[in-house]
Amino acid sequence: MKVFITGGCGFIGSNFIRYFAAKYPRSEILNVDKLTYAGNLENLKGLEKRKSYRFLKADIANAAQMKKTFKNFRPEAVINFAAESHVDRSITKPDTFLKTNFLGVGVLLNCALEYGVERFVQISTDEVYGSVHRGKFREDSVLNPSNPYSASKAAADGLVLAYYKTYGLPVVITRSSNNYGPYQFPEKFIPLVVFNAMENKKIPVYGDGLQVRDWLFVEDNCRAIDIVLRSGKVGEIYNIGGQHERANIQVVKQILRTLDKPLTLIEHVKDRPGHDRRYALSIAKIKRHLGWQPKTSFESGFLKTIKWYNKNRDWLKNTQTGAYRSFYRKYYSKLGLTET
Ligand code: NAD
Ligand code: DAU
Repeated sequence: MKVFITGGCGFIGSNFIRYFAAKYPRSEILNVDKLTYAGNLENLKGLEKRKSYRFLKADIANAAQMKKTFKNFRPEAVINFAAESHVDRSITKPDTFLKTNFLGVGVLLNCALEYGVERFVQISTDEVYGSVHRGKFREDSVLNPSNPYSASKAAADGLVLAYYKTYGLPVVITRSSNNYGPYQFPEKFIPLVVFNAMENKKIPVYGDGLQVRDWLFVEDNCRAIDIVLRSGKVGEIYNIGGQHERANIQVVKQILRTLDKPLTLIEHVKDRPGHDRRYALSIAKIKRHLGWQPKTSFESGFLKTIKWYNKNRDWLKNTQTGAYRSFYRKYYSKLGLTET
C-alpha cells in the first residue's frame, strides 16, 4: 500500500510509522511533516535507510505544495496525524490551530479527491465531545468542544464528513483518548511529570488535580488505526479508548512513587481555562465491528513508558529547545509557578 502520512515526526505519527513499517515491510510510506517544535526527525532514526520510506518537510496548509506532492506520489491512502496538538498553546495562540487543524485538513481533502485516494483517515480526538460528568461518549454523541484546539478538531471532523456526504470521498475518522508512551513531547502531562521529577523540578498540577483522563498506550492506538485503515466502514467514526481512567493527581503520585521522588515536588497551580473535567469513551462500536480492544494495562504501559524515558534522557533533553523554553517561561509565570 502507498500511504501518505502527515505529522509522522510527532508522537503518535512516529509510533505509527514504526509500527506500520515493521508490520508491512513492502508498504511505501511518504511522511510529510512541517517539523514544528513538536516534530522531531530523531523519532524515526533508523528508518531513513529503508528504500520504501521517504520524508518531505512541508506544510499541509500549503495547497500548491500538497498538490504537487499528491501528483508525484499518487497515494492509495492518507492518514492525517498532522496537527497543533497542545491545548495550553491553543489557549494562548489559537491562530495556528485553525490554520493547520482546519484549513490544512481542507487542503488534504481537496488533494485526496482530485487524485482519487481510496481511503482518507482523519486522526481526531475524544476532546471534540467536551467533558462528561457520568457515563461515556459514543460516536453519535453531540460535539461540545471547550477550547480552541478541540474546536478546531471538531470543525475538521465536520469537514471530513462533508467530503464523504457531498463528494463520496472514502473517509474514516478515529477519535482516541489520551495517548501515552515513548516519543511524546514533554509538554504533555505524563512526559512532563516524568521529566520534571527526574530533574527534581516542581510538578505543576492544574487546579485540584481531580480531572480524569482515559489513558491509552500509543501502541494500542497504532493497532486500532491500522485496523480502521484496512477494515473501517467508509463514512464512519470510531472511538478508541484506553479504558483506564485516572485522576491527574493519581498519575502524578504513581510517577513519583515509581521514580522514588518526594510528593513535595507537587505544586497545585491555577487551573487551565475551560478545563474539561472528565473524558470517557465507549469503545463498543470498534470492539463489535472491528474486533479491537486495548491490550496494554495502564500498569504495564506506564512502566514501559517510564523505563523508555529513563533510558532516553538525551532525547528528553534535546526537546528543550528555545521555543519550548520561551513558551513555558511565560506560561508558568501566568500560572504563578516559577520555572525551577
Ligand atoms: P504532536 O504534536 O506530537 O505531533 C504533531 C506533528 O504534526 C508534529 O510532527 C508536527 O511537526 C506536525 N505538524 C504540525 N503542523 C503541521 C503542518 N501544518 N503541516 C505538516 N505537519 C505539521 O501530536 P500527537 O500527540 O502525535 O497527535 C497526533 C494527532 O493525534 C493529532 O491530530 C492530534 O489531534 C491527535 N490526537 C492526539 C492525542 C494524544 O493524546 N496525543 C489523542 C487523540 C488524538
Ligand atoms: O484526550 C485527547 C487529547 O489529549 C488530545 O487530543 C490532545 O492532543 C492531547 O494534548 C491531550 O489533551 P489533554 O489536555 O488531555 O492533555 P495534557 O497532557 O495537556 O493534559 C492532561 C491533563 O493533565 C489535563 O487534565 C491537564 C493536566 N495538566 C497538564 C499539564 C501539561 C496538569 O495538571 N499540569 C500540566 O502541566
